[in-house]
Amino acid sequence: MNQADVDVAKLIVGDQEIELPIIEGTEQERSLDIGKLRATTGLVTLDDGYVNTGSTRSAVTFLDGERGVLRYRGYGIEELASQCDFVEVAYLLIHGELPSSEELQNFRMKLRRHTMLHEDMRLFYDGFPRDAHPMAILSSVVGALSTFYQDSLDPHDSGQVYESIVRLVAKLPTIAAFAHKKSVGQPFVYPRNNLTYCENFLRMMFSVPSEEYECDPDFVEALNLLLIVHADHEQNCSTSTVRMVGSSNANLFASIAAGISALWGPLHGGANEACVAMLEQIRQDGGNVQKYVKMAKDKNSDYRLMGFGHRVYKNFDPRATIIKASCDKLLKKRGINDPIFEIAQQLEEVALNDEYFVERKLYPNVDFYSGIIYRAIGIPVQMFTVLFAIGRLPGWISHWREMHASATKRICRPRQVYTGDNQRAITPIDQR
Ligand code: SDX
Repeated sequence: MNQADVDVAKLIVGDQEIELPIIEGTEQERSLDIGKLRATTGLVTLDDGYVNTGSTRSAVTFLDGERGVLRYRGYGIEELASQCDFVEVAYLLIHGELPSSEELQNFRMKLRRHTMLHEDMRLFYDGFPRDAHPMAILSSVVGALSTFYQDSLDPHDSGQVYESIVRLVAKLPTIAAFAHKKSVGQPFVYPRNNLTYCENFLRMMFSVPSEEYECDPDFVEALNLLLIVHADHEQNCSTSTVRMVGSSNANLFASIAAGISALWGPLHGGANEACVAMLEQIRQDGGNVQKYVKMAKDKNSDYRLMGFGHRVYKNFDPRATIIKASCDKLLKKRGINDPIFEIAQQLEEVALNDEYFVERKLYPNVDFYSGIIYRAIGIPVQMFTVLFAIGRLPGWISHWREMHASATKRICRPRQVYTGDNQRAITPIDQR
């Protein structure tokens, strides 16, 4: 494209006028390339929370917050959730294309051969307190994978990277289920290679040596859908963390461990746990949803409706729509009458008709209904964000690889605006 075809923005700084190229993505979203800004003007940009700042080009996921569109590698989330299973979607995100049946079978078999942990890793669990939060265990044990698999740490060796990818996707459910077993004082259950990804996880979570365990197909179906809709979400907080840590050439295990920690926050992946706690509190408080909506609107309180609002979705979160339908179907089919589902629906109804929420375009997000499905399956509330991490792992991996494959890859190191003291001399301590 010659210079004349490049769209530009003009910036006037004092008596200087510069042109900054406007680049356009494949979905016609436009951005200002400020790559030359500091060199030509000495200026840096300031954008708290990166509300207006793109950190990278990416071909993994496209989302349109106004139209409620979410696509992984060009495929709509609705089609993926209804036509694929999670391992297939993980393959799509990581490899960039949907697998043939042979490629998928090979991927499944590869994963099944890496589901066990090194026996010495079990000793970590002896050291955690019984009430340790499973997200702390998850990030600790995932980080420690780098000590047991020192043969696959080089981020520039594609064979080693792929070995680490398979190990992570295969072992995360095992690490998670072991954390749950530790918390309930039951013996750890080893993975079985004859089970599917979701069947294996549920069996490691809930089976006990004293009786046979039958996987409930309804729960397997619901879990599979939840993992798919959590699998990626472009440059969210935890994915940006994985990219940031990976940009220093830290190994994949260390980068994913950092992403798990970022996801734990209640403003991010921790919202599903916080949302169910909020719904439970409303239930115990007589189901008075108006009272909690009022609290959320009160600018003097920092109370927020967990599971509501989103940085990007300003219309509706397509995942919330999918999850709500799955939740409704599962509860009806199993005849489960979960009072907090009723409360969630009432809360949604009240909030969506309240000016405060409408004006700020606050809608239920991915975390609003997911916890109710997890509860129906029997997942303890402290494990909800762990399930989010299992779902998001293929997304984190695909972004980490894309960052390393980028011709413009460099260490992420933002600038700042200094607002501290100007230079001053040290006062000797006996005069302070
Ligand atoms: C996830 O980025 C991603 O893609 C994340 C995620 C993913 O898949 O990776 O989608 C997963 O993290 C979903 C979000 C889960 N978090 C929650 O449900 C926590 C509750 N929601 C919020 O805290 C908030 O909505 C965020 C964190 C999600 C978004 O924060 P923003 O974009 O920084 O918005 P903001 O805090 O600037 O809020 C804008 C206004 C403020 O009011 P004013 O100052 O304009 O008067 O909306 C208000 C906020 O007070 N507001 C809320 C609210 N969320 C925003 N008020 C009440 N309840 C809420 N939930």
